[in-house]
Amino acid sequence: MPVRGYVCENYGAPFRLPDLGPIGANGLANPRDFETPVAAFEDVDRPTECVQKFAGRLWVTTFAHSPLDVVAWHGNNAPYRYDTARFNTINTVSFDHPDPSIFTVLTSPSDTPGTANIDFVIFPPRWMVAEHTFRPPWFHRNVMSEFMGLVTGAYDAKEGGFAPGGASLHNCMSGHGPDQASYDKAVAAELKPHKLTDTLAFMFETRMPIRTTQWAQTTPLMQLDYDDVWTGFTKGDVSQSGEG
Ligand SMILES: [Fe+2]
Repeated sequence: MPVRGYVCENYGAPFRLPDLGPIGANGLANPRDFETPVAAFEDVDRPTECVQKFAGRLWVTTFAHSPLDVVAWHGNNAPYRYDTARFNTINTVSFDHPDPSIFTVLTSPSDTPGTANIDFVIFPPRWMVAEHTFRPPWFHRNVMSEFMGLVTGAYDAKEGGFAPGGASLHNCMSGHGPDQASYDKAVAAELKPHKLTDTLAFMFETRMPIRTTQWAQTTPLMQLDYDDVWTGFTKGDVSQSGEG
């Protein structure tokens, strides 16, 4: 069955749950929701292709039998899966737009706090209740590089041009923020409790600059007019939003 997805290869410290700090013992992604396979084996004589990635290249070999025929093993690493619908989302219940690190599912820390090797962050369905606040992500630039994708629905800072399966990249210190349509909608909105539904965006945020591949540079899928969504702003527009 064909499947589609986003893949992140982590060359730094292993992913782990973030420290919860004042949140306490529970919250965000809870350990109980990570599922690992139950040990099993198969004794099957059929040609099996085995693909391995090593030193940036893919290597393939074919066995005459299933390699999953080991009946006993001991190890410390296992694959796991996590359903993002289980994420205990924490957000402001007063004012201001918190840093997206509040939505961190897993982190690969670096030696410098606040600048992760890579954070895996999600933007799931959630209630928006902030008062006196421009609720979408505001205009900013920072030292982290932000690779975003959209799994389903729509993202609250991009009214158009960011479809499920697509991706955006804002490298280190690249200014960005909501597009004009999202901005206009947000400043005109009545700030009553509002639930964001039918949405699941995610971000891989890293202190490293992200270099695009040759394919990404040349594909006709690339949006050469990507930054046009910010050309319509006037001085008056931006001064109304602030950074809250
Ligand atoms: Fe950002």
